[in-house]
Amino acid sequence: MSLAIVIMAAGKGTRLKSRRPKVLHEIGGKPLLAHVIAAAAKIVAPADVYVVVGHQADRVEAALAPTGVNFVLQAQQLGTGHAVQAAQQAIAGYDNILVLSGDVPLIRPETIQQLWDFHQLQGAAMTLLAAVPENPFGYGRVIRKADQSVEAIVEQKSLTPEQESIPEINTGIYAFRTPTLLKHLNQLSSVNSQGEYYLTDMAQILTVAGERVVAVTAPDAKEILGANTIAELVALDATLRSNTAQRLMAQGVTIFRPETCVIDADVEVGPDTVIEPYVQLLKTTRIGSDCLIRSGSMIENSVIADEVLIRNSCVIEDSSIGRGAKIGPFAHLRMGSEIGEDAHVGNYVETKKARLGKGAKANHLTYLGDAQIGAGSNIGAGVITCNYDGVNKHTTVIGERVFVGSDSTLVAPISVGDGAYIGAGSCITREVPADALAVGRSRQVTKEGWAAAKRARMAKEC
Ligand code: UD1
Ligand code: CA
Repeated sequence: MSLAIVIMAAGKGTRLKSRRPKVLHEIGGKPLLAHVIAAAAKIVAPADVYVVVGHQADRVEAALAPTGVNFVLQAQQLGTGHAVQAAQQAIAGYDNILVLSGDVPLIRPETIQQLWDFHQLQGAAMTLLAAVPENPFGYGRVIRKADQSVEAIVEQKSLTPEQESIPEINTGIYAFRTPTLLKHLNQLSSVNSQGEYYLTDMAQILTVAGERVVAVTAPDAKEILGANTIAELVALDATLRSNTAQRLMAQGVTIFRPETCVIDADVEVGPDTVIEPYVQLLKTTRIGSDCLIRSGSMIENSVIADEVLIRNSCVIEDSSIGRGAKIGPFAHLRMGSEIGEDAHVGNYVETKKARLGKGAKANHLTYLGDAQIGAGSNIGAGVITCNYDGVNKHTTVIGERVFVGSDSTLVAPISVGDGAYIGAGSCITREVPADALAVGRSRQVTKEGWAAAKRARMAKEC
């Protein structure tokens, strides 16, 4: 039986009071909708996923286009029933569809599969995923018949006082037999407190038409919570990050005080790595085994090999670090930095598009931008590569085993050959050949007794 997944994501998210469309708000470092698409793509191919977009459709499409799903436009957002109506043509060729909400991001593929299996087993026209959360307020409630099949779903605003105590809610996730759904979809009406076409009304419409409507209960109510307000979003983010930390710890990673760490959903860390409190590991970051990541460091979109030490308060973005390297404290590795095996990057060192070879060292107060530094070279304290002439960026190439004395400036484009020496305090503007010594500074002048004589003169004057 062919199956498509429709994800409703056209709503504005009025309750967020945000200019950004709701489904692009992020938890765990990824838009809400990206989480739902990832779960859907575990059940069917992305080519069989149809995302209904409307509010700021261009922006939502642009953000999620790389996932390979289809987009269907719901130009006006007249309710969840209307969203599925907008997808009518797209889904007509499938035997069944699953409907997911773009704002229920923690849903697991296993739970979607469970809904789908139950739907087929029951031979139902509509199967909804129900749940019993701690606080059902705000959700539609499931009204069951004596035989446990579903009679109706009633939205919070339409509940009678007796119905308010019903603990079982509608998660907004459904399976439908497509021909039956399409046959009755135009029976939806917008005569209700919101003036919207509610997809939830399909339960009663199908029941009245003599079709079978059933519900299966999600094992864990936490995964079906929706994000309608910023407070709910932040709560989902906390749940997701806690799940990520638990996943990593189950794989042998030690995370001290995990509640203080911000670890995005897709981050991977090898066993025996220790993560101290207040660390942020973001986006696609991959960290190897036996590393120590000390407090206050932020690592984003970076790849870190095994046995790396990241000392306190480092900022590492879009960079890679080789095995056994030592970084920080207070180092800033910017975009495109490649730190080689056993290299050291120390206090207050900033790198950008800098490649450090094996065992190279830049330990103190240095800026290395658009630079290549060969294996075993030592960059002294306060060295600066002058990579920018006000218009263009230029490259500094330093060979292997080079010694660059403290407080030197290298005015790019420039190259320094293997084994060369640069005297401290030099301003290097011309190529330095291999094994040469280059000193580019004014000669020291020493005047014996000068200071004492000046003090004596000043004492006499006053
Ligand atoms: C919906 C259900 C409610 C359920 C809850 C679970 C309805 C009428 N109610 O309520 O029973 O308990 O989800 O989270 O369905 N959307 C569109 N187009 C529209 C309107 C909404 O695509 O015209 C999308 C939204 O972007 C959102 C999803 O549908 O991703 C759900 O809409 P929302 O307004 O959040 O519904 P709820 O009030 O949460
Ligand atoms: Ca919602």
